[in-house]
Amino acid sequence: MELLEEQRETWGTRGGFVLAAVGSAVGLGNLWGFPYKLYDNGGGAFLIPYIVAMFCIGIPLLILEFTLGHYTQRAAPNAFHRVNKRLEFVGWWGIILGFVIITYYPTILAYCFNYMGDSLGAIFTGQPLPWAGEGIEGVQNASAYFFKDYLTGGDYIGPFRSEILYMLILAWVLMYFCIFRGVKLVGKIVWLTVPLPWIMLIVLAVRGLTLEGSMKGLTFYLDPDWIQLAKPTTWRYAFGQVFFSLSLAFGVMLTYASFLHRKSDINNNAAIIGIADFATSFIGGIAIFATLGGMAHVASQAGQPIPVNEVIKGGPGLAFVAFPYALAQLPGAAWWSLIFFFMLVTLGIDSAFSITESVLAGIVDKTGWRRSIVLPVMSAIGIGTGLLYITIDGLSFLGTVDGFVNGTWGIAFIGLIECVALGWFSRLDILRKHANERSDWRLGRWWNLLIRVLIPVVLGTLFFWSLYDNIQQYKLGEFLRNTDGTCRVNDCIGLGIMAAACILAVTMSLIRSPHDKAEKQTIQPPTQTSSGRSMAIVGFALSVLALLVFIFTGKDGQNQIMLFSSMALGIVSLLLCHVLLERFDKGDTRPSSFARIGGILAIASISLCVLTILVALSKKVADKATDILEEAPVESADHLSGTSYVILGGVFVLIVFGLGWCFWKAIGAAAKNEPEQQPEA
Ligand code: PFF
Repeated sequence: MELLEEQRETWGTRGGFVLAAVGSAVGLGNLWGFPYKLYDNGGGAFLIPYIVAMFCIGIPLLILEFTLGHYTQRAAPNAFHRVNKRLEFVGWWGIILGFVIITYYPTILAYCFNYMGDSLGAIFTGQPLPWAGEGIEGVQNASAYFFKDYLTGGDYIGPFRSEILYMLILAWVLMYFCIFRGVKLVGKIVWLTVPLPWIMLIVLAVRGLTLEGSMKGLTFYLDPDWIQLAKPTTWRYAFGQVFFSLSLAFGVMLTYASFLHRKSDINNNAAIIGIADFATSFIGGIAIFATLGGMAHVASQAGQPIPVNEVIKGGPGLAFVAFPYALAQLPGAAWWSLIFFFMLVTLGIDSAFSITESVLAGIVDKTGWRRSIVLPVMSAIGIGTGLLYITIDGLSFLGTVDGFVNGTWGIAFIGLIECVALGWFSRLDILRKHANERSDWRLGRWWNLLIRVLIPVVLGTLFFWSLYDNIQQYKLGEFLRNTDGTCRVNDCIGLGIMAAACILAVTMSLIRSPHDKAEKQTIQPPTQTSSGRSMAIVGFALSVLALLVFIFTGKDGQNQIMLFSSMALGIVSLLLCHVLLERFDKGDTRPSSFARIGGILAIASISLCVLTILVALSKKVADKATDILEEAPVESADHLSGTSYVILGGVFVLIVFGLGWCFWKAIGAAAKNEPEQQPEA
């Protein structure tokens, strides 16, 4: 069933699309998120949950987003509208949160421009870098430079730090010129913005590895601490990182796929993008930790040893304090700094404009307004809201907003709603067949099971868990107040933004534009009588029973028999409801609504049971881990252990074979078919 009722712009080539999607996925998160989370959550051991999350959740969801975008040829809001008009809010919610990211992401690009300027200044004047310093004091210098001199010193225009303001405008101007002509131009620009940071990353990695002491740095990165695998938080970080890294749930990938040529592959592209993103994160970690090891070696030679573990921080602390400091210790420091910050710019800019494009396409598809009008208005709003982050308290506000977007009600929650919406309220099998018809390899029915059952249970558990954590951490009512009774302004604003995003999403979905009226609902089940009603009622009843057993007996985890009974009831009901959907949701039949509601209740009850088990487990492991940590040696070894070499080799084999397999499939398919992308005249 083809929906192409008007000519939509398409990517010039398959490569252009793949690179643009990789460009969106590979961003600042790969460099300051992944390596730090890996280091902090068990080193090499963290790769197990990460790889599981990437292959069992990340890539299948990426396929889902690509397929929906490609099938409907619409950006997120209208794509969901076409599935079912009541689901349009899901698309809006994702892109509105995406817009929140785009208010602060360019601010970080602005920092990079300023640091590039400083590096260039040092090259031309021959002076040392302004944050350079020796030994442990050097680290303090770098920190003081970033937090005091740079962020809060200098000139101000009103309440805004002028130097950052100019660079913020520059970042938006660059983003504007990258996307103003549509995806064809984007498909060309990414041939520069994607390979360039890869080359620089490899150069930095080689440079890092050739430094004396680099192996010591790598032991921090790779030596596994298996006990961390028993900590549920390790798994939680892995899943969260995969989501953010693959740009899932913000409608970005969905929008990009809506511009794909009708015959273009979907499944293989998603696998290539997932593996390439993982490879970039992993190599980024090698570059960072090898260099930090080299830096530690230089410092200890100079008689001022630096404990690497105290220097390593995640987020801006890594990119603007630890790493610049490490580079400042090397010969040719200014050049290396220039390369590093230029790499961050090229890494981040395509992620930033991908979000802008998804918001832009969402508005254009809904209203029919012209891109040439919407984009300048959006850019102006982006600069306007970006001003909030360049005031004195800007960075901490940025951290708060980022925390909310990635927090309980943010990215993974929207992912959960997306799976439930498409898995339980649309005809998932139509999407699977659509993807299979044009892909280099095919998805089996297991994919339906993943999207409808497994992924919602995992994301549901994560959601309840962070809700539980919040309630534990801040007893109700304390969340927005400090202990002295004063209001926590940043948290109030952050919470306000999240609430506003949800309200705005629903409001936008209720507005009907004339353009919007032409939209057809294409995957909605027929309205005729439903089938399998009695079985569906059984499924529904079991799921209600599972919830009741959990609430009345299993909630505190003390009564284990009841807890496991509730879980067993939930699993039986969930599988039953899934089978009913598989069997009846096709052709003229549709399953009774009891099956849909039963399935969702079962997901909730299983997630709650799993959460209860994990909370109990994490308490046990936390006690054990403290004992072990007390005995653990503080110093790391100078050489990688045998296991670390195995991990290193294993990851490279996975990446090379994974990508090799994808390309082999692509070549095989291309040989069978006629060329899949017709170059436009
Ligand atoms: N994936 C990007 C990173 O890892 O930095 C960030 C990102 C881009 C998140 C686009 C979300 C998004 F829609």
